Parts: sequence; C-alpha cells; structure tokens
Amino acid sequence: MAEKTLEILFHETLKDIYYAERKILKALPKMARGAQSPELKAAFEKHRDETEGQIERLQQVFELIGKRPQGKTCAAIEGILEEGEEILEEFKGQPALDAGLVAAAQAVEHYEIARYGTLKRWAQVLGMKDAVKLLDATLKEESMTDDSLSALADQVANQKALKAA
Ligand SMILES: [Fe+2]
Repeated sequence: MAEKTLEILFHETLKDIYYAERKILKALPKMARGAQSPELKAAFEKHRDETEGQIERLQQVFELIGKRPQGKTCAAIEGILEEGEEILEEFKGQPALDAGLVAAAQAVEHYEIARYGTLKRWAQVLGMKDAVKLLDATLKEESMTDDSLSALADQVANQKALKAA
C-alpha cells in the first residue's frame, strides 16, 4: 500500500469541504425562503453570497496543490443539512421555526469551522503560505457568521419562540 501522507490527508479533506460547501450553497436559499424573520432571511442570503466566494477560494487552494477541484461525498454535512430540512418541515408556520433554523445553521457553521481550522493548521505545517491565507479568510467568515447567528438567536428567534408559549 502506498504511504498516506499529510499531503494526501490535506487533499482528501479539501475534497470533503468542497463537497460540503456546494451542498450548503444549494441549501441556503431554501433556508432563506423558510425563515420567518426578515433578519434571518437576510443572514441566510448574505451567507449564500459569501459561500460562492468560499467555493472560489477552495478552487484556488486546489490549484495551489496542482489538483483539479473535486468533491468527495461527505456524510456528515448531508446529515446536518437533513436535520435542517426536518426543522423546516416539522416547524413550518410555528413560532419556534426560526430558533430551530438558527440552530441548524450553527451546526453547519461549526462543522465548517472544524474543517477549515484543521486545513489551515495542516497548510501551516506543510509550509503552504498562500493556502493558509485563503483558508484563514474563510475561517474568519464562518466564525463571523456563527457570531451573527448567535446574536440573531438572542435578539430575535429565541424570544419569538418563547413568547408564543
Ligand atoms: Fe462555508
């Protein structure tokens, strides 16, 4: 068996997050349509646009390692997104819908933060400075999205879910 190196692990994980980002890009408009509050709708729409840029950054990282951009099925993101779909269906028209959607979106962000954090560290030890910059830019965007979702949970979604009780 050929030796499995950190370079290979990096490439495989890059394919995982590339697959995940493209799935997320498709899921976000659905979440935006489903969200009740205009603030949450706007947050999902904004992150949809950011996700396009994140996919482009990943394509640049593929280029840096001399590989063509390619995804690898990621069961984790499929499961997380499926849970979001369940919330959309089960809480449709209900006061707790937005609270559930924020939670589902934060699970997505945390998955991405885990992946980008790992990829950035590996790029650092592999001495890939340009890849570090690209991965760090996305990592910061994901963290900011997570923070704004927390703020939306506190200021809008959870309050609304509570009041209706
Ligand atoms: Fe992302």
